[in-house]
Amino acid sequence: MHAHFLPLSWRELGCRAEIIMAILKVAQLGHPILRRMARDLTSDEICSLEVQSLVNDMRDTMAEYGGVGLAAPQVHHSVRIAVLDIAPDNPRYEIKESAVSQVLFNARVTVLDDTPYGFWEGCLSVHGLRGYVERPRRVRVDYLDVQAQPKSIEAEDFLAVVLQHELDHLDGVLYVDKLADPTKFAFLEEYARYHVE
Ligand code: NI
Repeated sequence: MHAHFLPLSWRELGCRAEIIMAILKVAQLGHPILRRMARDLTSDEICSLEVQSLVNDMRDTMAEYGGVGLAAPQVHHSVRIAVLDIAPDNPRYEIKESAVSQVLFNARVTVLDDTPYGFWEGCLSVHGLRGYVERPRRVRVDYLDVQAQPKSIEAEDFLAVVLQHELDHLDGVLYVDKLADPTKFAFLEEYARYHVE
């Protein structure tokens, strides 16, 4: 009997993964993996060490690059996983909302209010650019949590934008597909100089 061969719990894995930090390469616009339809995970897969380790690496990667969300296809895994970390001290966005940290498996969006809400979106897979996109203001997201239990959240405005943006990645859709006005697409420097109110 070798005790260290016993499966690690989520919490133990979390502790271990903090020591073995892995920052993954982020696929950039033009990479075909960003255009594929990602597949659902089974409950067994969600609870597996491999997937839990991938989630930890996704969170490390998102933190490293200052993202508010990251979807598995962005780190070259075509599966329906998205992580969110909305914190007021985010370096890339001015955030007024309270902190949200979520891991979502097999998530699906239902629009609750399709009144358009506009936001200058960025994406770790579209490096150095911002574009103005309008999306439905209020949505519900049904998903499985880290224990593969069904959950749902309702979100509006900025949180609804982040959720829709991340879950679009799972369908091979990028925010650049949804630019309503090509003049509202800019490099970060020009965005900050000419487009921030
Ligand atoms: Ni993105």
